[in-house]
Amino acid sequence: MDQAEGLRNVVKMQNRQDGKSARVITITSGKGGVGKSNLAVNLAVAFSNMGKRVIIFDADFGLANVEVMFGTVPKYNLSDMIYGGKSIEDIITAGPLGIGFISGGSGILGLNNLSVEQVHFLVSSLHKLEQLCDVLIVDTGAGISAQVLDFVLASPEVLLVSTPEPSSITDSYSLMKATFKNSEFIKEETKVHLVANKVTSETEGKAVYDKLNSVVHRFLGGEISYLGMIPQDHSLEKAVRTQQIVSLDSPMAKSSRAFSHLAAKLMDVEEDEPQIHGFGITRFFDSFLHRA
Ligand SMILES: Nc1ncnc2c1ncn2[C@@H]1O[C@H](COP(=O)(O)OP(=O)(O)OP(=O)(O)O)[C@@H](O)[C@H]1O
Ligand SMILES: [Mg+2]
Repeated sequence: MDQAEGLRNVVKMQNRQDGKSARVITITSGKGGVGKSNLAVNLAVAFSNMGKRVIIFDADFGLANVEVMFGTVPKYNLSDMIYGGKSIEDIITAGPLGIGFISGGSGILGLNNLSVEQVHFLVSSLHKLEQLCDVLIVDTGAGISAQVLDFVLASPEVLLVSTPEPSSITDSYSLMKATFKNSEFIKEETKVHLVANKVTSETEGKAVYDKLNSVVHRFLGGEISYLGMIPQDHSLEKAVRTQQIVSLDSPMAKSSRAFSHLAAKLMDVEEDEPQIHGFGITRFFDSFLHRA
């Protein structure tokens, strides 16, 4: 029995014991610096305002994005749990509004090389995590590394962030190409939604989507959907500079209103398609480990 098979058996067992699972939303981009971490944190605030328990998983190894925005350095990360005997509760840092935060640290890199005992411990910890939140937001790094791709392929819902810059649109296309052409990509199991960031109007946001979706459709035979846009906003830049979160600091700023609008749209999807909610964190990581 290999590691992945062992893990799948444990996942099956645990899924039978308890039907409740959290929603997993992965945020990614082709190009760096397009606004993923801001989207992660501000969506978390909006979901939290809607009464959801949210945990952000910073899967961008090497760049401590979310912790800088939260202004709290986590004491432990995923490695400390897998290799250092810490519990899942130990590695969750509480941020504003009780939003939880987990840093992947170097733990992500070792996920494909665990002993059977470590896999069992990881799965039971993830099962606990499933009970601790309603939504897990995964902030990945940018680009088309194998690791980002593994997260994308394992996710039921992917938010692809792109700006109107031509280089951002072409890099988004490259990431979609790597995704859609991957032999393990199952289009019924991974929905990609575009979020256009740093736009000057609704029209410009929709144009980013139309450009990208037309090439995805034409050359990859696939489809992405449009979630919406976030305007270029001076208040957001100012919030980042002063280590604030724009939707907490300036809830009426145009970007803050856009974030809550996107969050509401995502929750509408949940009502229309309840199976999205049933995917779960354990299955997400199982799927990730299986690929990694
Ligand atoms: N809507 C916006 N309006 C104005 N500035 C923005 C907006 N979104 C992002 N920015 C700017 O872009 C910078 C990068 O944003 P962010 O850190 O969220 O990107 P990222 O995609 O997570 O980057 P990385 O790939 O490095 O992780 C921010 O510091 C902010 O100044
Ligand atoms: Mg980031």
